[in-house]
Amino acid sequence: MINYTLKQLYSFEAVVRLKSFTKASKELFITQPAVYMQIQQLTQNIGSDLINTQGKKVTPTYIGNKFYRTCVEVIYILEKSKSEIEQTLDPEAGHLQIAVATTTNSFVSRVLAKFKRQYPKMTFHLEVTNRKMLLEKLINNNTDLVIMGEPPIEMNLETKPFMENPLIAIAHPDHPLLLKKNNSIKDLNKETLITREQGSGTRITIERIAGMEFNSDIQINSNEAIIEAVQAGLGIGFVSKHTVKLELESGIIKQLSVQRFPITRHWYVVHNKKSALSPIAKRFKQFIIDSS
Ligand code: PGA
Repeated sequence: MINYTLKQLYSFEAVVRLKSFTKASKELFITQPAVYMQIQQLTQNIGSDLINTQGKKVTPTYIGNKFYRTCVEVIYILEKSKSEIEQTLDPEAGHLQIAVATTTNSFVSRVLAKFKRQYPKMTFHLEVTNRKMLLEKLINNNTDLVIMGEPPIEMNLETKPFMENPLIAIAHPDHPLLLKKNNSIKDLNKETLITREQGSGTRITIERIAGMEFNSDIQINSNEAIIEAVQAGLGIGFVSKHTVKLELESGIIKQLSVQRFPITRHWYVVHNKKSALSPIAKRFKQFIIDSS
C-alpha cells in the first residue's frame, strides 16, 4: 500500500508549482534540506521518481505530473475545510484562494490590501496567471474566485462583470507612428509587434477583434516585461491601460492612436456554479464589485 503524509504532499505541491526547492522552503517556512527529505520519502513511498532536476530546473516526471494534480485537489479541499471551520468559529477570518489574469494583478492587489485592512484575520493566496491557466483552475475547481476577462459561455460559471478593461497599443515616445492619428492595422503590421504568449486573453482578443497578424517572434509572457521592452524601443506592445497608468503619466511610453483601439472589454469575477462560495469569498466578491 502506498503511504504518504500531508507534509509530503504540501512539499511536493509547492516544489512543482514554484519550480524550486528554495522557493518552496521559504513558502512552507521549513529548511531546504527538510523539503528535499519530504520529497525523497514521498518518492520512496510511491516507488517512482516524481521530480527531474537538471541543474536548477525542477520539473515533474510523468507520474509526478499526475500526482501533482491530485495534490492540488487534495490541498484545495483541505484548505477549504480548514477555512470553513475557522469561519464558523470566527466569521471575519477565513482563507481565500484567488487566481487572477495578469492584466488585473495591480488592481486586485490594491483591493486585496484594502480588504485585508478591513478583515485583518483573513489570509489569502493570490495566483497571477494567464487566461488558459485560469480556465484550467475553473475546470479543476481548485480556486475560490477568478478575476479575468470575458469568461467562456459554454462553461457552467457564475460570472459578474465589474470594471472596464481597455486594451491599448503602446510605443516608445520617439516612435514615428505617434505622429499620425488613427493608424490602420495595416500600418501596425509593418512594425515589430511584441505579443503575449499563446493562451493569453489579451493576445486572443487582439487577434480576434483587431484582426491583427503578429509578425514578430517576440513573445513575452509578462505585462511588466512588455512595458520594459517597449521603453527600450524593441517594438509596439499591447496591454491593458490599467497596467501602464504610471508609465503613460510620466511619458516614458505613449499610447498609439490605432483604428479599433482601445478594445474595451470588462473584467469579470468568476466562480464555479456547482461549488458554494465560502463566507470570506462571498464577502470579497462583493468588495471587489463595490471597489470598481
Ligand atoms: P491575460 O489576461 O492576457 O493575462 O490572459 C487578460 C484577460 O484574460 O483578459
